[in-house]
Amino acid sequence: MPAHDIGLLQTGPVPSFVEEQIDKLFTVHRLHKASDRDVFLSEIGPKVRGLISFGAVPVNSALMQKLPKLEIVGNFGVGYDSIDAKWAGEHGIVVTNTPGVLDEEVADTTLGLLLNTVRHLPQSERHLRAGKWLEKPYPLSATLRGRKIGIVGMGRIGKAIARRIEAFGLPVVYHSRRPADGVAYRHYPSLVAMAKDVDVLIVIVPGGAATKNMINREVLEALGPDGILINVARGSVVDEPALIQALRDKKILSAGLDVFADEPRVPKELIEMDHIVLLPHVGSASVETRRAMGQLVVDNLKSWAEGKGPLTPVPETPWPPKKR
Ligand code: NAP
Ligand code: 8YV
Repeated sequence: MPAHDIGLLQTGPVPSFVEEQIDKLFTVHRLHKASDRDVFLSEIGPKVRGLISFGAVPVNSALMQKLPKLEIVGNFGVGYDSIDAKWAGEHGIVVTNTPGVLDEEVADTTLGLLLNTVRHLPQSERHLRAGKWLEKPYPLSATLRGRKIGIVGMGRIGKAIARRIEAFGLPVVYHSRRPADGVAYRHYPSLVAMAKDVDVLIVIVPGGAATKNMINREVLEALGPDGILINVARGSVVDEPALIQALRDKKILSAGLDVFADEPRVPKELIEMDHIVLLPHVGSASVETRRAMGQLVVDNLKSWAEGKGPLTPVPETPWPPKKR
């Protein structure tokens, strides 16, 4: 079957350079343009063999069941917690993500967030813009110097963050379920034990059931009153009410957060705290990196359509897939 005859479901808006390419390659069905999504899905469902996901709609079993010929889900992002990849794997559907092309960008953002959080750079900038420097200098901040950094997750991005921390002259340790291959930093099998031993926790694990609320009250109390939490993973990884309470009770010093439990909604308790730093999920959000991610989504779908197999299938859905 020529690629052009393959039905591709698009669940939400995608960048124009992606749209132009998929329009040339596939017959694209746009769910977000449908007036009645249920009627639309019942009509086009049997024609769909591929799905392109930019995170607008969760790709769960209920959606995939409506697409009986579905073979591939191309996800924009290395994290694919919005997709039920286990169900997909059990039903012969391959899921692809965008590993590798965003590691350095996200690591850069993480170091920026860390420095901003410790040294109060956004707050001191606000002080200047408000004309308050004319009245008095901005108060002295905490320091990054002398801090031991604990990274939660030593995968592709965790390693890129660790390299930068080393260049800053600070010791690095990490927690993950298994020691990472070829990594010399000290590995802590226990997250609480590591939190007790470090001054900063940087969280960069996947979202999903296995990591839900892993940064809980116990971990935050172990981090202690001088401790700083940086979360660039997923909001679901942090117990947000426990974090708000820990910040209020000064159980930890501060937090730098790029991700939240219910994005784009951010709890007003966090927004009202001036001593913490909040970013709107911009870890990978440069023009160049988002372009590389978008291109990898297209390249995965194209390679599959040409019969060469996807380029970056996720571990839950190895290629070639199991028979349905
Ligand atoms: P990766 O290479 O797969 O690394 C994941 C790391 O997390 C591994 O060290 C893994 O080790 C560890 N891990 C997984 N499950 C764990 C658990 N239950 N407990 C403890 N450690 C666990 O992934 P990556 O490419 O570095 O990306 C990591 C995540 O960053 C993504 O999934 C995404 O959610 C997030 N992210 C955010 C942004 C942003 O814009 N803020 C951008 C990109 C990625 P073990 O398997 O040995 O436990
Ligand atoms: C993207 C991300 O911002 O790759 C990821 O897992 O979180 C980010 O790079 C996100 O996927 C955009 O929807």
